[in-house]
Amino acid sequence: MIPEIEELKNAVALSPENVYLRMMLIRKMQHLPYYLAEVEDQLNLLLKYDPRNVEGKELLAGIYLKKNKTSACIIILEDLDHANELSTNGKIILAKAYLKEENFERAKELYQMVLLVDPEANDEELDGAFRVQEVRNTEAVDDGFLEKPSMNFSDVGGLDAIKKEIDLKIIKPLSNPELYAAYGKKIGGGILLYGPPGCGKTYLAKATAGEINAAFINVSLNDILDMWHGNSEKNLHNIFAKARQNTPCVVFFDEIDALAAKRSDMLQSAGKKVINQFLNELDGIQHDNEGLLIIGATNTPWHLDSAFRRPGRFDRIIFVPPPDLKSKEIILELKLKDKPSENIDYKKVAKKTKNYSGADINAIVDIAIESKLEEALETGIPKPITTKDLVKAIEKHRASTVDWFNTAKNYATFANQSGLYNDVLSYIKKM
Ligand SMILES: Nc1ncnc2c1ncn2[C@@H]1O[C@H](COP(=O)(O)OP(=O)(O)OP(=O)(O)O)[C@@H](O)[C@H]1O
Ligand SMILES: [Mg+2]
Repeated sequence: MIPEIEELKNAVALSPENVYLRMMLIRKMQHLPYYLAEVEDQLNLLLKYDPRNVEGKELLAGIYLKKNKTSACIIILEDLDHANELSTNGKIILAKAYLKEENFERAKELYQMVLLVDPEANDEELDGAFRVQEVRNTEAVDDGFLEKPSMNFSDVGGLDAIKKEIDLKIIKPLSNPELYAAYGKKIGGGILLYGPPGCGKTYLAKATAGEINAAFINVSLNDILDMWHGNSEKNLHNIFAKARQNTPCVVFFDEIDALAAKRSDMLQSAGKKVINQFLNELDGIQHDNEGLLIIGATNTPWHLDSAFRRPGRFDRIIFVPPPDLKSKEIILELKLKDKPSENIDYKKVAKKTKNYSGADINAIVDIAIESKLEEALETGIPKPITTKDLVKAIEKHRASTVDWFNTAKNYATFANQSGLYNDVLSYIKKM
């Protein structure tokens, strides 16, 4: 028994609603094994008088974790997390709780975020747990991420202007290097594709590789932003090295906004090192980038640091819009090519798909197929997909590009540095 704590307890008993006083008592008791059971009681009382006390909730969740009441712990902390109130320490506790439930993915994701904001907040238990996993993962990544796509530009409906730009900017220089050299035109630099989701950015990048029979590496943020210090840089370097060994190679960086977040907390810490490493690799200062075709993609170009847009980096920023009417017809045809269908009136269907992306068109074809299957299972007779089936599917599917344009409109209107988003603005005007 500790006299000071006993005195505090008496004081708290006299004014039970004084949450500050009770918190003081809890802080003094919490690390002492002798008071373990009492701390839990005190926390419950505290939360009775002050149900929104974040520190109290986190401490209680910590105790639950120790007592193996994992779900209770998770419920409390996820609640705080959703309200954006969870502290770094709370996040660590939550990551440990996920780990206890063997939910490695969530544990890792959360811990990664913690370290991104504050590299000093590393936790030995979590470090240890993930290091075991890491050994397995890096092996998988090494062989898996190099592809040789069999698709090409003809599989991509519409987007003709963009295909042409890619051709001029990255395909032609690769096949005619002397010509470019003769005119003193520098080769290199990448293209950044941006636009609403599902409109063919990834698809187009992959088709670019297929178009010139090049290798393709699809790098998403998760491959890079590794949680251990220095590892992200190493991963990034390994990816570039792999690409340089396999030229010609299209290196596609998806969700590039996440790597290049403008957020200052990221710039200050671990994130800054990764960004610098990325820019160095892009610049090809220490290594030759000949034969590398760099394509980046993002849904949120406005979060990108302007350092990425300098010459030799992503110096071509291209808006990938939703397909126009003609392109929608082509995409529909492409998607139905190998499926049983009957006299489809492509124009009629395309006209009903306002604000649809290519992915939305995939979705209605899927919906139509599902309903046909259901029918066939009932009747035993498989029937081809008709125009009517597709129109019915459209009624069930909501266009997915609208939300993006609502957000983009603000940035294009109010943050349109040097006309960066003019294409978006003129697109919106025509919508
Ligand atoms: N122009 C297109 N031609 C043919 N198919 C397309 C086209 N655009 C989209 N699709 C189809 O939609 C799917 C989703 O496209 P993709 O993954 O390239 O979109 P994205 O722009 O990369 O989206 P996100 O921003 O969500 O990553 C593709 O797999 C493809 O089947
Ligand atoms: Mg994509």
